[in-house]
Amino acid sequence: MGHNFWNNKRVLITGYEGFLGSWLASILVSKKAEVIGLDIVYKRPKSILKELRNRLICIKGDIADFKKTEKIINDYKPEFIFHLAAEAIVVRANKNPLRTFRSNVEGTWNILEACRGKSFVNGIIIASSDKAYGPQKNLPYTEDMPVRGVYPYDVSKSCTDLIATTYYNTYKLPVCITRCGNIYGPGDLNFSRIVPDAIKSILRKKRFVIRSDGKFTRDYIYVEDVVNGYLLLAEKMRNLKLYGEAFNFSNEKPITVLKLFKKIERISFMKVYPPKILNKAKYEIKHQYLSAKKAKSILGWLPDYSLEKGLIKTIAWYDKNI
Ligand SMILES: NC(=O)c1ccc[n+]([C@@H]2O[C@H](COP(=O)([O-])OP(=O)(O)OC[C@H]3O[C@@H](n4cnc5c(N)ncnc54)[C@H](O)[C@@H]3O)[C@@H](O)[C@H]2O)c1
Repeated sequence: MGHNFWNNKRVLITGYEGFLGSWLASILVSKKAEVIGLDIVYKRPKSILKELRNRLICIKGDIADFKKTEKIINDYKPEFIFHLAAEAIVVRANKNPLRTFRSNVEGTWNILEACRGKSFVNGIIIASSDKAYGPQKNLPYTEDMPVRGVYPYDVSKSCTDLIATTYYNTYKLPVCITRCGNIYGPGDLNFSRIVPDAIKSILRKKRFVIRSDGKFTRDYIYVEDVVNGYLLLAEKMRNLKLYGEAFNFSNEKPITVLKLFKKIERISFMKVYPPKILNKAKYEIKHQYLSAKKAKSILGWLPDYSLEKGLIKTIAWYDKNI
């Protein structure tokens, strides 16, 4: 795809104030796209967007409000939509299922419904998750496995996924779905997530507390690799006739929480107390990781960052910013 693909393209990012949204917004701005951001939060402090905000159109709004969402889409007529807004913190989602279903499920059908029949929309990328698959007998997860979450966050993402697919199957909306494992990198201000929490504990010399038994496995993917995957998919979805399809993005190297902690400790050259293991992780799947074979073979996507390389950049950012 030409280097100028995003030049002057009008793009709506829901959840642009969040971790992934702020990276996507900043990279799209650098590619000269005209970015409109919609988020329930306005100007989150310490965001990586701070110097860039005047180059975006920032709108405060709740995607669970259909009228407002529809008006924004009608007024701005985006050619591409990256739908990332969601309650994305698993523990918070499990504590507040109603708000989670409103944002993640109703919010998704609002976006899709507002795009129905709009010829100016050429591509909609919907952020689903590895959690959408729910527990499966075989690992890694591949895109042909059914989505069947069990716990609230996971179910909200299975629904996001299915609703997106039905809008393609029934109304031919140009939709693709992305599924990632744990995304990490500079700028994630959600300190209940493992990577930011572990780095903060180590930098502040506090004992790191692990909710699980420390042996849960996940794959960790660097945020810029995810943004590259989202952009490649949006650029290629039309020519390669990918509408209605889902893509996993992963570095395919699952690791336990304990091993991840040791790696962060080693890279930060700090010696800290061993983590406190609570063994209290309820309503979470023990082992998960994704196959990225489809994204590699169809999109030509490859991650640029090993876990070490990504963690070095990430730790340096937290060291400077928290
Ligand atoms: N970070 C990960 O590890 C990961 C992994 C897989 C999938 N995802 C998905 O990617 C997307 C982005 O995740 P993130 O890590 O950037 O999360 P995040 O929490 O940092 O960002 C989500 C953003 O959505 C906004 N939002 C929430 N509810 C909203 C609503 N009702 N209306 C408007 N805005 C609302 C929040 O204010 C926040 O800025 C989410 O859909 C998440 O489920 C994330």
